[in-house]
Amino acid sequence: MIIKPKVVDAMNAQIKSEFGASQQYIAIAIYFDEEALPDLAAFFYEQSLEEREHAMKFVHFLLETGAKPLIPNMSGFRNSFDNAAEAVEFALEQEIRVTNEINNIVRIAKEEDDYASVNFLQWFVDEQVEEVDSMTSLLQTIKHAGSSLLLVEDYVRRTLAARVAAEGGE
Ligand SMILES: [Fe+2]
Ligand SMILES: [Fe+2]
Repeated sequence: MIIKPKVVDAMNAQIKSEFGASQQYIAIAIYFDEEALPDLAAFFYEQSLEEREHAMKFVHFLLETGAKPLIPNMSGFRNSFDNAAEAVEFALEQEIRVTNEINNIVRIAKEEDDYASVNFLQWFVDEQVEEVDSMTSLLQTIKHAGSSLLLVEDYVRRTLAARVAAEGGE
């Protein structure tokens, strides 16, 4: 195993966090689906898939470095929200928490002189900048829109289309 045991433990905890984020985003997508806001629902179903990919990046990295990934038991998801802003605020809090978790794993990897892990984690450091930014923008848009959530639907549709176009161009 070329990475350090303390880093392996922290990455396994992060696998739980990323799968947890994935499940929680499905719950938020369901809230928007039930509110007949399909673009917001699509945004969070897509976020859910991304979080699953994040978890799987850790799984594959641990396997590649000779460590053992552990699939966690999970519970404690939130399934009800009073309004759109509350659901997105909850999502933003989750992204900020994950950002702190990623920073913490980087700190552990540096303390352990585990530079393979430091390098691997750099992608997540950048990703969290994007995730916090996009969730903050969505929350601001919802607050500006007030009760006119169809305006937010329009914003989300354009955001998703731009993202698909950017990914297609890679
Ligand atoms: Fe993530
Ligand atoms: Fe995320």
